[in-house]
Amino acid sequence: MLDAVFPANVVRILGGTGLLFALGCAALASAQESGHTTAGAAASDGEWTTSEQVERGAQLYEQRCSTCHGDAIVSDFASYPNAGLFFGFVSTAMPADAPGSLPHQQYADIIAYLLSANGMPVGSTELPPDQAILSEIKPSELDSGEGEQAP
Ligand code: HEC
Repeated sequence: MLDAVFPANVVRILGGTGLLFALGCAALASAQESGHTTAGAAASDGEWTTSEQVERGAQLYEQRCSTCHGDAIVSDFASYPNAGLFFGFVSTAMPADAPGSLPHQQYADIIAYLLSANGMPVGSTELPPDQAILSEIKPSELDSGEGEQAP
């Protein structure tokens, strides 16, 4: 199987660990190529999230999070330096009674809802469960950023 993609000599040079690392990098690179390349500018320009996704996220939050947290996470979210950190934590540790049990897309939907609830304008593209993109989105800057467009 691998021979079809990697010539035998490359496989031999890279060795087991190196090959896995190379495969990981290739997968990451192609994921980024197929996604948006302008993640850095995405936080406040209305690119990420859609109103449908925010709606889905609100329902998921209601069903899966608010039972224990009420609305607390909506304000807690604003203190995270970036959404990637939040995603990393909740996708492995929450809900506390079934850690990591939601599909990653649903954690992204919940984040879309939390971003919207904290003042990020709804965009045109669904927020993906992608660390590279999420890490560029900074909840801690949303509050103060809200008034930036005022004259
Ligand atoms: C069964 C109860 C329960 C559910 C359901 C639950 N949590 Fe939690 N959560 C907890 C507890 C208890 C803690 C504190 C202990 C800890 O940090 O691990 C916590 C901590 C957190 C924290 C870190 C502390 C904070 O307040 O910022 C976040 C973020 C969080 N939860 C998000 C979520 C999200 C998002 C969901 C829905 C997917 C969720 N939780 C569902 C019980 C729950």
